[in-house]
Amino acid sequence: MAATSRASKLALFSYILLGFVWDVMGTSLTSPRARTLQYLDVCTEIASAISGASAVYYPLSFEYDSNIEHWATSSTQESACSVEPGSAEDVGVILQIVNKTQTPFAVKGGGHATNQGFSSTEGVHISMARFNEVVYDASSGTADIGPGLIWDDVYSALAQYNVNVVGGRVTGVGVAGFTLGGGYSWLTNQYGLTLDTVQAYELVLPNGTVTNVTSSSNPDLFFGLRGGFNNFGIVTKFTLQTFPQGQVWGGLIIYLGDKLDALAEATANFSANNTDPKAQIITELNSLVGLPGATLSIFYDGPEQPEGIFDEFLAIEAFSTDVSTRSFLSLVQSAPANATANQRAAFHTVSVSNLSQNLLDVIVNETTFWGSSLCSLFSTGTFVSYDVEPFLTSLFTHGSDSAYPPSRAQGLFPVNLYYAWLLPSGDDYFLDAIRQSAATIQAAAVAEGQDVADAALYGNYAVVGTSIDRIYANNVDRLGSIKAQYDPSNVMGLAGGWKFSA
Ligand SMILES: Cc1cc2nc3c(=O)[nH]c(=O)nc-3n(C[C@H](O)[C@H](O)[C@H](O)COP(=O)(O)OP(=O)(O)OC[C@H]3O[C@@H](n4cnc5c(N)ncnc54)[C@H](O)[C@@H]3O)c2cc1C
Ligand SMILES: *[C@@H]1O[C@H](CO)[C@@H](O)[C@H](O)[C@H]1NC(C)=O
Ligand SMILES: *[C@@H]1O[C@H](CO)[C@@H](O)[C@H](O)[C@H]1NC(C)=O
Ligand SMILES: *[C@@H]1O[C@H](CO)[C@@H](O)[C@H](O)[C@H]1NC(C)=O
Ligand SMILES: *[C@@H]1O[C@H](CO)[C@@H](O)[C@H](O)[C@H]1NC(C)=O
Ligand SMILES: *[C@@H]1O[C@H](CO)[C@@H](O)[C@H](O)[C@H]1NC(C)=O
Ligand SMILES: *[C@@H]1O[C@H](CO)[C@@H](O)[C@H](O)[C@H]1NC(C)=O
Ligand SMILES: *[C@@H]1O[C@H](CO)[C@@H](O)[C@H](O)[C@H]1NC(C)=O
Ligand SMILES: *[C@@H]1O[C@H](CO)[C@@H](O)[C@H](O)[C@H]1NC(C)=O
Repeated sequence: MAATSRASKLALFSYILLGFVWDVMGTSLTSPRARTLQYLDVCTEIASAISGASAVYYPLSFEYDSNIEHWATSSTQESACSVEPGSAEDVGVILQIVNKTQTPFAVKGGGHATNQGFSSTEGVHISMARFNEVVYDASSGTADIGPGLIWDDVYSALAQYNVNVVGGRVTGVGVAGFTLGGGYSWLTNQYGLTLDTVQAYELVLPNGTVTNVTSSSNPDLFFGLRGGFNNFGIVTKFTLQTFPQGQVWGGLIIYLGDKLDALAEATANFSANNTDPKAQIITELNSLVGLPGATLSIFYDGPEQPEGIFDEFLAIEAFSTDVSTRSFLSLVQSAPANATANQRAAFHTVSVSNLSQNLLDVIVNETTFWGSSLCSLFSTGTFVSYDVEPFLTSLFTHGSDSAYPPSRAQGLFPVNLYYAWLLPSGDDYFLDAIRQSAATIQAAAVAEGQDVADAALYGNYAVVGTSIDRIYANNVDRLGSIKAQYDPSNVMGLAGGWKFSA
């Protein structure tokens, strides 16, 4: 035991050292800065066109560094400059300049995209950081929320009113990309995805015009923004429905590797048996530098432990348990999402309709198989994680037509695969592995009779290279025609992400 732990610490240390040496060499030998120089004139033009509410920053400044930074280092690129618009009008000015000069650009909210280029660029990086207000309106029961915020800030601002919004489940995740892509929350069984709770978007259209989009003012754009990310412009405000929120019960339990099978079985039992929409879990089957382990986040939307529901989990011997009655924010911050930040990372996903015992067994096997093969001393992998998210099959019945999910008829649960590694030279290898593993899980679900061969994948989890047909399915044509109407010159095509073509 002690020897294993010493060996794994040594291994981890070696990876970090190797990664550091590589990074230092990489920066000096293949600096992308030369490529960004050509965009400096565009930065200057933006700086002179924007109002005093906004500012442009350059490399080596603190603001620039924090603007381009991401949760995953592989999602960070060095841009020519960063700009922090302070008004929707200035966002419009910036869009007109990047279009006129055909400059690649990025829009970043909370920077949790796990695909490179989705909120990063070598051109002009737009950080939404100055859109950081939360304004609660008790009479309408809504909150106006800035796209520069992370959910932690939103929860803490709303707690004083005893209300909440349907947002992220772990610390640090941004409001903007989460809401524009879908939004699987602790409150989803009760109220739907985050996008189901949006009442209005303030949107800067690709031509620079600022507009308010609601289901009645503009049904097409409203539909497109519900899952369509940055295809239709830049959002400068979300108006979200609020819900009453008191103390919650739950937190984080950590299990050692010999408990993987028991945890998987309890997860299958929970998924098959739970009918209480206030109860949710995320089971994370992990391998840290080749050693299996697991974490379980449990959530109950009430101040006390509900009878029965979580007993099987609590009966499994834990390595550590942090479960209590607490604030919603405290529960969100109990999961160690920051601990695995600052590495290269990929997410991918499989949509399943039944987290059966058989499928859980397959996922446990994938965890140990890829954990031991990717995290050997010579492959620089540090962490392999399979997150199982059993929702109620009614989760999509809380909202109407939206870009994502393309069908609400079948309840689907996103399994989230997450690999982390240290060296850029490993990117292709790890991306390839995560695609293979997802395909294995999907094939196993289909083989046991689940109707998920074409089930839509969640855009916020899908790995780069996934076809938009797999995310938006039969909505792709409609999204293309909305795009043709509002962005005929493809301004938003200069920014990365899942792209609809006119
Ligand atoms: C640790 C971790 C935990 C997560 N947990 C969950 C979870 O519980 N549930 C869930 O559903 N997802 C979860 N995710 C996935 C998450 O939803 C996505 O990473 C999401 O895109 C994050 O939003 P962001 O604003 O931080 O991302 P960013 O990287 O800033 O942006 C993501 C995309 O949105 C676009 N965008 C950003 N701001 C705007 C804007 N103002 N206007 C137009 N386009 C914009 C960007 O251009 C980019 O394409 C998690 C991710 C991580 C890394
Ligand atoms: C996690 O990181 C984010 C972004 O850096 C930070 O704002 C947040 O407070 C951190 N959360 C915790 C619980 O430390
Ligand atoms: C974008 O630039 C192109 C090329 O200069 C121009 O034809 C088009 O009208 C511009 N689009 C918008 C929305 O300004
Ligand atoms: C959008 O709606 C808000 C609130 O109703 C209003 O104050 C604002 O002027 C509107 N903006 C536009 C561009 O119509
Ligand atoms: C799962 O449910 C079955 C049937 O009730 C039970 O025998 C088994 O012990 C449960 N698993 C766990 C881990 O509690
Ligand atoms: C849970 O689900 C399993 C599988 O469907 C079933 O056998 C079992 O009796 C249920 N009850 C409990 C408490 O796990
Ligand atoms: C899930 O799969 C199990 C095992 O194949 C099966 O017994 C169960 O009925 C399925 N549940 C649903 C809701 O389809
Ligand atoms: C475990 O997974 C690997 C990789 O997908 C596969 O080759 C192997 O057959 C699996 N083992 C079992 C017992 O399913
Ligand atoms: C911008 O586009 C919108 C939607 O297509 C249109 O209504 C508006 O008139 C355009 N604004 C300008 C200045 O062209």
